[in-house]
Amino acid sequence: MIENLNLISEGKAKSLYETSETSELLMVYRDDTSAFDGKKKEALKGKGEINNKFNAFIMEYLANNGVETHFLKLIQENKSLVRKLDMLPVECVVRNIATGSLCRRLGVEEGIKFEDPLFEFFLKDDDLGDPLINDNHITAFGWGTEQEISKMKEITFKINHLLCELFKKVGLILVDYKVEYGRSNGSLMLGDEFTPDGCRIWDAETGESLDKDRFRKDLGDVVESYQIVAHKLGISL
Ligand code: ADP
Ligand code: CDP
Repeated sequence: MIENLNLISEGKAKSLYETSETSELLMVYRDDTSAFDGKKKEALKGKGEINNKFNAFIMEYLANNGVETHFLKLIQENKSLVRKLDMLPVECVVRNIATGSLCRRLGVEEGIKFEDPLFEFFLKDDDLGDPLINDNHITAFGWGTEQEISKMKEITFKINHLLCELFKKVGLILVDYKVEYGRSNGSLMLGDEFTPDGCRIWDAETGESLDKDRFRKDLGDVVESYQIVAHKLGISL
């Protein structure tokens, strides 16, 4: 029973609870949705359940293709068991097409397709608006080692390769996404989530956004769009 578990953190979209196993956590996907560093918030019915199942599918797909992740198993509609990680306070973003903060920051045109995907690090700090950082900031402040930086880049690009192919097969474009990593027994692995809350997915034919941009831009049908993507990928909801 979740009532008996110790809540260890309540983020903007997920809650983490301790379990009887000290090395495992219960991750609860809530319907809460936020954007602009938590300034815009809304609960979208059914989103927690879709994201939990979406994430389980992607994490299992990645694990089957050689990416080590924290995901252990899906337990209930909106709950999964994960390995407890010591999270690095950085976000890794890969972009295949220019949009979002990149265009705002550099004044570059939207829609430029990169031949080689672009990698960026951001500091995970809502109060500071998750600022862009580079490798030197990470080592200088002890947020991660040089080896961890190399590993984060290597795995994040591998994820890009695997997921671009997967999405392309079902008529979807993976535009960009954010992932996070953490340490377990000294080794680095993928943590957090991969869902339409943390990536941009466009319909390859119409160019329509099927991700959290629908929430950011008040386009409506947010959960319905996540369902469309899940359906195309063959995820049973
Ligand atoms: P936020 O922290 O951005 O508000 P969430 O609501 O998604 O986001 O909260 C999930 C939190 O759990 C994040 O801070 C994330 O870094 C952390 N986290 C994700 N996976 C793990 C894990 N396996 N072990 C410990 N913490 C994790
Ligand atoms: O979303 P925004 O335009 O502010 O930022 P971005 O840097 O263009 O985001 C790049 C990708 O990372 C998008 O797919 C975002 O959904 C995702 N992201 C995220 O999930 N969480 C963040 N804190 C920042 C970005």
